[in-house]
Amino acid sequence: HGATKRHTPRSLAALETPVVALTAYTAPMAKLMDPHCDLLLVGDSLGMVVYGMDSTLAVTTDMMIAHGQAVIRGSQRACVAIDLPFGSYQESPEQAFRTSADIMARTGAGCVKLEGGVEMAETIRFLTQRGIPVIGHIGLKPQAVHTHGGFRTVGRGDEADQIMQDAKAVSDAGAFAMVIESTMEPLARAITEAVPAITIGIGASPACGGQVLVGEDMLGLFSDFTPRFVKRFGNLGAEVDKAVADYATAVRSREFPGPDQCVGLAKKS
Ligand code: KIV
Ligand code: NA
Repeated sequence: HGATKRHTPRSLAALETPVVALTAYTAPMAKLMDPHCDLLLVGDSLGMVVYGMDSTLAVTTDMMIAHGQAVIRGSQRACVAIDLPFGSYQESPEQAFRTSADIMARTGAGCVKLEGGVEMAETIRFLTQRGIPVIGHIGLKPQAVHTHGGFRTVGRGDEADQIMQDAKAVSDAGAFAMVIESTMEPLARAITEAVPAITIGIGASPACGGQVLVGEDMLGLFSDFTPRFVKRFGNLGAEVDKAVADYATAVRSREFPGPDQCVGLAKKS
């Protein structure tokens, strides 16, 4: 048997269990996640999680390419999707195509993700008709944080109808999947029943076709901002704190480096 084949948009759609997705930004994290995940998403959330920005707006295409290359190198089984960052696709379908083609050519990723509903349908159709598989992203759109008026749960009252229209437009335009972020649960459930595209929930519904979380959030490695939808499956922040404290103590006491880490260190008498 040769190397196992990577998941594709097509093979994700054929899964009989919910799509397991996490964000990944680096090769070592991708390597740890890959055996367990169907989809790894190089999210523009890296601006906040890795770079300490207070929104995703300043993330660039070059940043997405560098991290996308790292995640591709660190994985072999999961489908890898890369976010189109703010300002790299909203202007026109042509701009979106150029950015997507650049990202895919330079990373080897098999699909891209972009935020938007009805207003991005023409662009999604333009991409999918030209060989670029697209994952949509509706509900809370972090690149639209300023028009949303903050990171919040969306889809109460009239907003629900608009988001349902967005979901249908994204699916009709040819997106094979869509992330539904931070909505009221019944809305995400209704969208999942209404559209053929795979719905991937984050703060959405257990009925979605898959689930995604930010890796650092679920591992307890990022605590600047913790939305209600984050569940911690690990507490690595505490592990890192303890390991660094032990290292500092060992350096200050000259216990580290010891005989195992040095060549020809004379034994203490
Ligand atoms: O950027 C990101 O991490 C995302 C996921 C949370 C869906 O878009
Ligand atoms: Na994103």
